[in-house]
Amino acid sequence: MSLLPLVPAPAHASSPGGAPFRLSSGTAIVGDANAADAVAALRTLIQRRTGLRLSSVGAAGPGAPTLALEIDRVGRAESYRLRADTASVTVAAADAAGLFYGVQSLGQLITATDADWVIPAVQIDDEPRFAYRGVMLDVARHFFDVDTVRAYIERAAALKFNVLHLHLTDDQGWRLQLRSRPALTDRASSTAIGGDRGGYYTQNEYREIIAHAAAHHMTVVPEIDLPGHTHAVSLAYPELCEPPVLSEHVREVVREYGGDLPTSGAPYEGMAVGFSSLKIHDEATYAFLADVLGEVAALTPGPYLHIGGDEALGTSAADYAEFIGRATALAAATGKTPITWHEAGASAALAPGTIGQYWGFVSPTDGADDKARAFVAHGGRLILSPADAIYLDMKFAADAPLGLTWARGVTSGQRAYEWDAAAVVPGIDDSGILGVEAPLWTETVRTLDDMDALAFPRIAAAAEAAWSPPWKASEDRTWDSFRARVGDLGPLWARLGIHFTALPEIDWATDGARGDGEYS
Ligand code: ACM
Repeated sequence: MSLLPLVPAPAHASSPGGAPFRLSSGTAIVGDANAADAVAALRTLIQRRTGLRLSSVGAAGPGAPTLALEIDRVGRAESYRLRADTASVTVAAADAAGLFYGVQSLGQLITATDADWVIPAVQIDDEPRFAYRGVMLDVARHFFDVDTVRAYIERAAALKFNVLHLHLTDDQGWRLQLRSRPALTDRASSTAIGGDRGGYYTQNEYREIIAHAAAHHMTVVPEIDLPGHTHAVSLAYPELCEPPVLSEHVREVVREYGGDLPTSGAPYEGMAVGFSSLKIHDEATYAFLADVLGEVAALTPGPYLHIGGDEALGTSAADYAEFIGRATALAAATGKTPITWHEAGASAALAPGTIGQYWGFVSPTDGADDKARAFVAHGGRLILSPADAIYLDMKFAADAPLGLTWARGVTSGQRAYEWDAAAVVPGIDDSGILGVEAPLWTETVRTLDDMDALAFPRIAAAAEAAWSPPWKASEDRTWDSFRARVGDLGPLWARLGIHFTALPEIDWATDGARGDGEYS
């Protein structure tokens, strides 16, 4: 399948040869009421890709060239089968999500010739490797309005991601309105890193994000980061928080990146981490958590509630372990499955079934793998987010204007691609892995264009780690295959208005005679 421009690579695909299907203004999209959303999505995609406005009909007329979409309930959840030959194209899927993914693949297959638009003759049988395929957006370091989040959802869903993890709270701001604790957004949401404007989502805006995600077959996972990353909480509830711990690390970050040291009572606009903590031995903290976690859980239809747990550097190991036990129990008591960053695996009191999100390196250091394995020992599973491969906020080149470098320097496209989820934490294979997630932290990110520039194309490598068969399982799951396939998506991304970075590692296709010219 190597020559098909599909990312993430499908589970099975073949090119039987023969003439392609030719798209024209006379092509009709066929689908019954069950397929109506997918039909609408395909119409929009084809119009944006080609300019053609196709009609849609409930049933095919005799002999007419058609693109037919159908949910036939065959196969595993999220799977689809796509067949294209010169006469017709059909996508049949197990469920609505599978049909949506089949539509995305179809959109990627549309190719410009000098004369028209074609879909090559193909047979694709596709299904995901992992059930949880996430992207994370940090809306705390910088705040992004609903339209920007909607755009990121659309970009991620097109690559078959099905989870949007929102990092809603951090030292720099609290970004979700809570009726039980209105002081959080009243007093701790107005600023962001560098003195930029902050903001927060009203409950209706949060519902709007959830609905847009659901319409793209994505589940929202809210994160309330605890017990560290809570300086913003201290602006609203100083009595719940310890004073900032000004470690040498904090001072060094301030020296390197500027800004002020964190101070009690003042918003924090810098990039240091690990200085804030909730009070661990005050019952008022747990009353606060019961309110906050209960309300966030009630607002969120998805099954997960992320409670952070990373970089609690100002909290002693014993206090941290105790806190994680109580906080994961409170999260579980809301009826959701708790997720934490992998550090929480150090706590013997972790609530059973808690999911761990591993953010160490592809080759674990400092016992990060021991902490990760502890989640599986407690009946949970892992989400793999190895920072030196899949943190989309790392610089893609030393001279890149955006991004950071703490995760082993520059993360090239090739480094973003060449790793496998089952090879990161020794002893944990696919059965212990819930999925893969690509975080976008936003210390240096202010706009959708910034997001595009950092995320694309490396987000496509993350999509492949989450959806496709394992790295090196076939010649399709190699860097050489990926760089050819992702390069072929350049024209589609350009037409969709994605301001991707044209990494020089990749040969970027253009639409040839119909082309938009070169990318910058
Ligand atoms: C993290 O990057 N602190 C999870």
